[in-house]
Amino acid sequence: MNRRQFLVGSTALSFGLAGFSHAQSAARALPLPPLMDLTGGIDGRVPLMLAPSNHDFGNGAISQTFGINSTYLGPVIRARQGQTLPFDVSNTIGEGVALHWHGLHIPGSVDGGPHQEIEDGATWSPDVPIVQHASMNWFHSHTHGKTARQTYNGLAGILLVEDDASLSADLPKTYGVDDFTLILQDKAFNGAGEMIYQLTGEVFEDGFQGETLVVNGAIAPLTQAVPSGLVRLRILNACNARFLTLSLATGPLSVIASDGGFLASTVDVESVLMSPGERYEVLVDMSSIQSNGLQVDLDGGDNEGGFLASLFGGGTTLTALTLTQNGDPGFQGSMPNRLANLSPPNRSEATVTRSFELQMDTGADLAALAFAWGNICGDGAMAINGQPMNMDRIDEEVRKGDKEIWRISVDDQLHPFHIHGCSFRILSQQGAAPPAYAQGWKDMVHVEEGWSEVLVRFDHQATAETPYMYHCHILEHEDCGMMGQFTVT
Ligand code: C2O
Ligand code: CU
Ligand code: CU
Repeated sequence: MNRRQFLVGSTALSFGLAGFSHAQSAARALPLPPLMDLTGGIDGRVPLMLAPSNHDFGNGAISQTFGINSTYLGPVIRARQGQTLPFDVSNTIGEGVALHWHGLHIPGSVDGGPHQEIEDGATWSPDVPIVQHASMNWFHSHTHGKTARQTYNGLAGILLVEDDASLSADLPKTYGVDDFTLILQDKAFNGAGEMIYQLTGEVFEDGFQGETLVVNGAIAPLTQAVPSGLVRLRILNACNARFLTLSLATGPLSVIASDGGFLASTVDVESVLMSPGERYEVLVDMSSIQSNGLQVDLDGGDNEGGFLASLFGGGTTLTALTLTQNGDPGFQGSMPNRLANLSPPNRSEATVTRSFELQMDTGADLAALAFAWGNICGDGAMAINGQPMNMDRIDEEVRKGDKEIWRISVDDQLHPFHIHGCSFRILSQQGAAPPAYAQGWKDMVHVEEGWSEVLVRFDHQATAETPYMYHCHILEHEDCGMMGQFTVT
């Protein structure tokens, strides 16, 4: 955040603060998105219906949203390695939509990028092969120039991949009992309590930033009763632009998995910094405590810090979710040590190195680029290596099976970089080794000063007709052109 935004953001902020104090007084029940469990077998096609809806975030007002088989967000899809998922994605939201499977190792032809827009009234029927191991993935709008608003309005959901190892692992896995998925988002509400998406020409640099924390479509704080023993939280930062810092009220966070799968072993940390698009799985030990709180700092990536802190008198940390122990026995195993076989990434295996510079303002003419967005991008398009996203230009051509180093740098502020069609390992992040919890399989890397480097291999094909994307996952940056396209052949 920069100072300029503090001033222009002050009107929206006062709504948010009113929402906060109300919210902090009465905890709501954690909504459990319906589980669509396909691991036991699939009967016919799998419908995902994208439609406009009305949704109550828990403040009594009715907000206009988009839902996927629901009033807001989508189901939790649970599938198994080796399956092919026959989706029927139908769109009735009133405009075109592309729906991308973020994290899946799948060919470009079913990836759901901006070249695969589903017209209003149409249905897209990709057969999505699940070849990767157990991992927490998600799906969200990826419509050219409209990703930020459509995702904000509710076009997102979770796709869990399980494999033989994860299904037999000694871990909590009863959905809604000791295994929960949490979609964290920041929202703005107007004086009537309705969700709004508001950007001015001044705030494009930071993307959308709301002051109210929402979990699974309900305003925090939330509460959930759980059995004693270990409880598993599978967490997605689905904010458009905010980095979040997570911690527990009591004890360390025990991180067991990142974007692309299990870590080598459990990593205990005081806090986890999560960018938009990142996923982490954590275990909370409820065997000897009555309650514990998952805490979220909404200004996780803010180096200057202190803005909300000054308003709240010294702390920006909110309780997102309070777990209260109900005395049931629940999962009785112990905290796992070894989780997966993962050797450290070896940079000498790479045969190709590519460099990407993320750029905030190129001065390139937005009108000429036909962005749908008007003035949210400020004076000029954002870009990578001097080139704002262009649907008709392939930026990189990658050979299938090669190991490559991708080196990403920025000219300022913190950006979360994402690559389609793969999982990678982080070699360095901002010039140093990444924190232990980010040393496993990832598809997101933080980029700030200096550069970050990842070691990546692409195993599936993407042609010029349906190329893969790489981009900043601050969705307003993506929409404003901080994105490129590549093929894998
Ligand atoms: Cu999560 Cu290209 O996106
Ligand atoms: Cu993706
Ligand atoms: Cu960015």
